[in-house]
Amino acid sequence: MGYLDDEVKRLQGILDSIEARVKTLEESQFGGSKPKTAKEIRMILIGPPGAGKGTQAPKIKEKFSCCHLATGDMLRSQVAKKTPLGREAKKIMDQGGLVSDDIVIGMIKEELENNPECKGGFILDGFPRTVPQAASLDAMLRERNQTLQHAVELQIDDSLLVARITGRLVHPASGRSYHSLFNPPKKAMTDDVTGEPLVQRSDDNAEALKKRLATYHQQTAPVVGYYQNTGIWKAIDASQEPGQVWKSLLAIFDGDQKKASSAGGGILSKLTHRS
Ligand code: AP5
Repeated sequence: MGYLDDEVKRLQGILDSIEARVKTLEESQFGGSKPKTAKEIRMILIGPPGAGKGTQAPKIKEKFSCCHLATGDMLRSQVAKKTPLGREAKKIMDQGGLVSDDIVIGMIKEELENNPECKGGFILDGFPRTVPQAASLDAMLRERNQTLQHAVELQIDDSLLVARITGRLVHPASGRSYHSLFNPPKKAMTDDVTGEPLVQRSDDNAEALKKRLATYHQQTAPVVGYYQNTGIWKAIDASQEPGQVWKSLLAIFDGDQKKASSAGGGILSKLTHRS
């Protein structure tokens, strides 16, 4: 046993010094900063109302320094400004229907072309919601010689969504969302960051939710099939607690990183993949 222990310790020492050397080399290669997990992210989150798209998307934005485009938030901002589009959209949203494809496609195109944050990639939340929207997104990306990397479906049973939606509280200016039970703000009905009041969305009631779910199953479920055919679709169990859902997303991004390093990016991969 003594010999085995000594040998394990010796090998451990060799591994430690290799790791330290790789760290030094990577630091000199990447200017002291950690290599990014991906140069650019281009992904969409698909899921029914309350699945957690708006909860997870800001974390993806933070991780990749990309833009987070939520068509629901964009439409609500038009509603708040009482623009003609906002007035029309509010009626449709409160009834649980979908705003016309042309309008939302135009909004996304405008942001992808002009929002400087989108230069680092994008996370789309609530778009595309119909097959024509998905086809338009592909066309927009083709024009830019880009492709979508991930279409992630947040899967959850309808029965779990009533409690999530009826307990949701939002900070209208930022789109930050809380939940009265599952994710309460530090002070009741108050945004943690700005101290401004939280509100309940006018479409967050059991009756409107029924219609939103019916619209989802009828018009957005086919979008899942659209991406399943392209090979970039992945599903996540969205009934897990938010931290677990985030871990599932990280596992998808880790898959990207592994692919990138086995393609010759990382120093460790160069050491371990000898020809
Ligand atoms: P939109 O704003 O996109 O609403 P939605 O799709 O119905 O989605 P939600 O925002 O309700 O849900 P979410 O998945 O973001 O959930 P969240 O993370 O907040 O669209 C609104 C309307 O605009 C549409 O109905 C339509 O009319 C129109 N529209 C928008 N886009 C359109 C398009 N492309 N085409 C046409 N029309 C369009 O979570 C919900 C709650 O649950 C929160 O309180 C949160 O704290 C909590 N929660 C989140 N994750 C968990 C978890 N894992 N466990 C427990 N609680 C959780």
